[in-house]
Amino acid sequence: MRAALEAKRRHADVALISKVHPVRSHSVAAQGGINAPLSAGDSWESHAFDTVKGSDYLGDQDAIEFLSREAAQAVVDLENMGVAFHRGPEGKLAPRNFGGASQARTYFVGAITGHAILHVMFEQLLKAGVKIYEEWFVTHLAIEGGFAAGLVAQEMLTGKFHLIRAKAIILCTGGCGRVYEPSTNALICTGDGMSLAWRAGAPLMDMEMVQYHPTTLANNGALMTEGARGDGAQLRNALGDRFMIKYAPNKIDLASRDVVSRAAQTEIDAGRGVDDGLGGKTCVYLDCTHLDRDFILERLGEIYELALQFANVDITRQPCPVRPGMHYQMGGIKTDLDGATRIPGLYAAGECACVSVHGGNRLGANSLLDTVIFGHRAGAHAAEFARQVDFRPLSEGVVMESERRAQAVLSRPANGESIAKIRLDLGRTMHQHAGVWREVKGLQTALNTLYTLKERYQKAPVQDKGKVFNTNLVFHWELGYMLDSAETILLSAIHRTESRGAHYRTDYPERDDQRWLKHILVGYRPDGAPTIEYLPVTLTRWKPEPRVY
Ligand code: FUM
Repeated sequence: MRAALEAKRRHADVALISKVHPVRSHSVAAQGGINAPLSAGDSWESHAFDTVKGSDYLGDQDAIEFLSREAAQAVVDLENMGVAFHRGPEGKLAPRNFGGASQARTYFVGAITGHAILHVMFEQLLKAGVKIYEEWFVTHLAIEGGFAAGLVAQEMLTGKFHLIRAKAIILCTGGCGRVYEPSTNALICTGDGMSLAWRAGAPLMDMEMVQYHPTTLANNGALMTEGARGDGAQLRNALGDRFMIKYAPNKIDLASRDVVSRAAQTEIDAGRGVDDGLGGKTCVYLDCTHLDRDFILERLGEIYELALQFANVDITRQPCPVRPGMHYQMGGIKTDLDGATRIPGLYAAGECACVSVHGGNRLGANSLLDTVIFGHRAGAHAAEFARQVDFRPLSEGVVMESERRAQAVLSRPANGESIAKIRLDLGRTMHQHAGVWREVKGLQTALNTLYTLKERYQKAPVQDKGKVFNTNLVFHWELGYMLDSAETILLSAIHRTESRGAHYRTDYPERDDQRWLKHILVGYRPDGAPTIEYLPVTLTRWKPEPRVY
């Protein structure tokens, strides 16, 4: 929405296409806040350094500098548009602490920051008169003569396929979290844009870097915001110990997410886990009980509700069982600082893109920032690009190709393995072998399983044969996209024989800057195995150092 708004402001004729109503996009679930070095004594350099360190030195420092320099203005802009950020007693914007940050710089709206931003953005879109095609599902990205030329989308209400010509396209399709099961991500986070771009010829970068958030609810994987620890909550093991003191003596519960997730998983694996309510000891406690009840309800109301509804825990009175769970994909479609991919006219921003500001591990509250900063930038550059080029000739044949694919799937006999079963097997396989801990045997097992899942996918039926809101067919398209993301994650993870950020290889437990201070890019080949390419990490002012919290 930020991209559309900026392109529109620059007089481009903009259409926003979304498979859901825009305010149901997954940013609505971002809880804890958005980072900006706005307060006295803070600086963009400090924010940038924390981000570089958080990334375990894999983030490109030119992109991180840009992010941090622009952050303060971006948050002020959001505030001016109408986002009601929390204010302190003197009426000034008042940030909370967050992980991996050297000072409080996370601006927030209770624990519903993404929700607040998304709704304000949507109002701005309506005000600007951006055309919105909601519940339209993109099935094909059309490239002509090497340029992005348009796309095919299925209107879910009618089942009709449409061709939309465009001089420039910006993919802002979010992450691929549901490739894992469980995940904090919404069911719609199926890596659609990543797969569309990949198959069109734009490589995916840093895909092995999958973030596990330290505090997710045991039974459904829902996010329990890092803002809780920022506001004073503590992690404890079954013995009641604040185990993070041992793993991160300086930052304790507010070390970076990769560090806290590994520490929690180590405690659980060592038998010091707490009851998950499902018959296992797969959790640790997130303890807020020493905090004032009204303080919790005001600042953390969302997770109070979540814990009560889904775990039957009143966090104002009881410690809440949580465990590390899949949360974010640091990698994505490789872009430059303008959001441009390697395909002229094709842009990407937000979680589907890799610019790369998060490297091996994203700092909490830098993702909403990434979306608004690089959404804005991609919108500006795509509008400028569109001003300079003509539409590419594009035939209706691309629509017929999507129709043919849909027909082929719909004509499979209705009895057979469900898409849901294949999707669940995929998610569990990824969680088991490509989660907090990884090693070559497990990763290879997962890749072999993935190839069998692809075969099963090719035969799986779509039960609903109708045209109107055929969500079975949508699930079919989505699973195809998910299998692509999973393949690129596994290939990159097998390839990177070191441990860095969220990618921890038990068979290669050290970071290896000599060999691996570089990005891995996976490219698609229609008739062969994916390609692997490397790119150096851009270093500006911070040399890699041992990372201690
Ligand atoms: O914990 C959280 O509130 C998540 C924030 C984020 O991923 O940026």
